[in-house]
This record gives sequence, structure tokens and C-alpha cells, in this order.
Amino acid sequence: MNLAIIASGRGSNAAAILDAIANDRLDARPVALITNRENVGALDVARAHNVPGHAISRRDFPSRTAQQRRMLEVLQDSGADFVALAGFDAILRPFIVAAYPNRILNIHPSLLPAFAGGMAPVPQTDALRAGVKISGCTVHVVTEDLDAGPIVAQAAVSVLPNDTVGSLSDRILEQEHRLYPLALRWFAEDRARIVDGRVLIDSEESQALWPHPAP
Ligand code: GAR
Repeated sequence: MNLAIIASGRGSNAAAILDAIANDRLDARPVALITNRENVGALDVARAHNVPGHAISRRDFPSRTAQQRRMLEVLQDSGADFVALAGFDAILRPFIVAAYPNRILNIHPSLLPAFAGGMAPVPQTDALRAGVKISGCTVHVVTEDLDAGPIVAQAAVSVLPNDTVGSLSDRILEQEHRLYPLALRWFAEDRARIVDGRVLIDSEESQALWPHPAP
């Protein structure tokens, strides 16, 4: 797997993925880390891991489409054959999704399909407001439908009575860092298949994630 990461912010998920690669928990070659902003933490993460970082900022292009055309060029020039969105705060244009069919994953800080559509910390805030007792994170395949592609993996956390957006986000983030490298591994090892819009994973590890393992 020649992996590119696309991020917008501090880059803690990018760091978790690159750490997993460095520690041989994920067999992938990190070929690029692209951001849609300058001076964000994710670019420092790229530097620290010796991964080529590319800031492709909206203000250098006449339109979002032109900006994303450049993102696609950089992806293709880097040799990426798989893409991980890690805190990307824009919507990928359909021409990028089409260039990597079923080869782009995203992580979202809720148990989808609940609280889809927003960018952190909106999903966590909405979960608190709704009074749900369990929330978590979801890794899913990116399709043209926002936050609605086939679900690869989820991890649940309790929502505690005195939680703030910050404390709930931190609890979810810990699970994100565990879940995302694992989900990428299933794709790197060719253990994930998409059948009728659902992801089937051929791995005992995936069974161990769920409270009720299959018999
Ligand atoms: C993470 O919580 C991720 O799930 C969320 O942004 C945060 C990025 O943090 N993504 C979304 O909200 C996507 N809709 P990070 O920059 O530290 O990885």
C-alpha cells in the first residue's frame, strides 16, 4: 500500500497512522501528507516522520475545484494507491473519489450514521446535546455521499454524565488512534471486501473488536 494522508488540523490521527507504520503494525509506504491549509500541525507530523508534506491552500487557487485538481495531481505524482482522510475539513470532489474507488477511508468522531455531516467538534457536541449514552468513532469508505460510505470499523465509548465536549472528544480520540491503523491494515493486507454496500473483513482481530464475536 502506497498511502497518502489528507488532513486539515493538528494531525493526531496522521501521527497514529505513521507511528503504526514505523512500528511495523501497518505494512504501508507513506508517500505524501497533503493539507488544505498552511502551518497546521499535520505538516509537522509529516516532517517528523520524513514524509513529503504538501500544503495546498485554497487561497492559491481560483476555486475549490482547482485546489482539489492540484490535490489529485499531487496524489498521483506521489504514487499513492490508497488515501486516508485524517481530520480533513472539506468535502472531496467526486473526481478524486472516482480516481480511488473504494481506496479512500475517512474517520469520523461518532457512531455513524448518527451525527453525520459535521466536522469535529460538531458531532461530539451534538452527541452530548442528544443525551446519548454511548458514542464513538467510525472508519468508513469514502463515497460521494457525505459520511455515508460503507462502514469498516467502529469503536464505542461511554458518554459520562459530567462530560464536556473536550472530555468526550478526548475519550473518542483515544479510540480513533487505535482503530484507524487497524482498519488500514485490513486494506493493506487485502482482507476487506465490499459486498452489497457492506464491508466484510477476513480477520480474527475484527471479531475481537465487537462485544459479541461471531460464533
Ligand atoms: C478527529 O476527531 C476526526 O475524527 C475528526 O477530526 C478530528 C481530527 O483530529 N474528523 C471529522 O470530524 C471528519 N468529519 P486530528 O487532526 O488530531 O487527527
